[in-house]
Amino acid sequence: MYTLGIETSCDETSAAIVKDGRRFLSNIVISSLPLHKKYGGVIPEIAFRMQMEVITCAADCALKEAGIKLNNIGLISVTDGPGLLGSLVVGLSFAKGTSLSLDVPLIGVNHLHSHIYANFLNNRTPPKFPFVSLVVSGGHTSLFFMKDFDRIEILGSTQDDACGEAFDKAAKIIGLGYPGGPILEKMAKNGDPGKIKFNCSNTQRHLDFSFSGIKTAVLYYARGSFTGKRKLKSNKLNDICASFQKTVVDTLIDKSLLACKIKKSNKLVIGGGVAANNYLRQEFYRRLQKERRVICYFPELKLCMDNAAMVAGLGYQLFKKGYSSSLGLNVALN
Ligand code: KG4
Ligand code: ZN
Repeated sequence: MYTLGIETSCDETSAAIVKDGRRFLSNIVISSLPLHKKYGGVIPEIAFRMQMEVITCAADCALKEAGIKLNNIGLISVTDGPGLLGSLVVGLSFAKGTSLSLDVPLIGVNHLHSHIYANFLNNRTPPKFPFVSLVVSGGHTSLFFMKDFDRIEILGSTQDDACGEAFDKAAKIIGLGYPGGPILEKMAKNGDPGKIKFNCSNTQRHLDFSFSGIKTAVLYYARGSFTGKRKLKSNKLNDICASFQKTVVDTLIDKSLLACKIKKSNKLVIGGGVAANNYLRQEFYRRLQKERRVICYFPELKLCMDNAAMVAGLGYQLFKKGYSSSLGLNVALN
């Protein structure tokens, strides 16, 4: 069965065709990022206006690249949340309209769960249930225990900033561009991760996260280090990046290890934009294997960021289990 996936939860407009939930034949991603750069963050109105303009084109391209026709589609799967309200409405409206006009079933899927599903795409040996999973994206940081695609327990989540958001904000504070995550990772390669002592704040519940404190610590450290021209020397910037990155990654690993211990799981499945960070990937592999013999799963790099293939794939699995949505499907902001 061919599933058309639609993903518009943030600044991307993505459409994909996935065969039998596992193999994607196309995965078109159109980003409005260049339009947000000068503001240093995503402007929701700009994002959803562009999504309205390009969504039809994204779906057309996905069909063309997959070499199939509209009437070959057996299911439409769409992100219904969480995400930006206007952006989600554009994707949902398009998916509902297409479902009605083609008379094919519709299913709404959760954006965070779909990030984890990226590990099941084009993968000959996907993880087997049950497992602990960690989503690290621009908008969320969450730990789950997954017994199946529809049996998901939330173990913890961020109490303030998301992990990717903290990377972006820290980068902005020290004058790097937007989005800061990938730039910060690059700078960190030439820095000393042990140079500056940063901390992530404690949380009342051990499996929750808090990243707003470390962002403020970067602000104060940077302020105290400005030279007369209010510019930081590049080696100091590199040290801030390396120390920040190490502290955040150590926290993610400590909490993931604890979750695996509590749930007696020897598998950790990771997804979301920050999972593209190479330092994070290497450290997770190294420490989880060494400290608890836990096997880590990461999606292919190109599937870490928002994309519709993961949405189509998860929708297919849920549909096979008997789930579907009506045309009354609404945005699920949380
Ligand atoms: O999952 P995603 O594409 O969108 C959301 O659902 O939010 O994640 C985007 C986030 C941004 O905050 C971006 O800075 C971060 O992922 N990111 C990274 C890296 N690549 C993307 N953060 C750290 N290191 C990276 N290499
Ligand atoms: Zn995402």
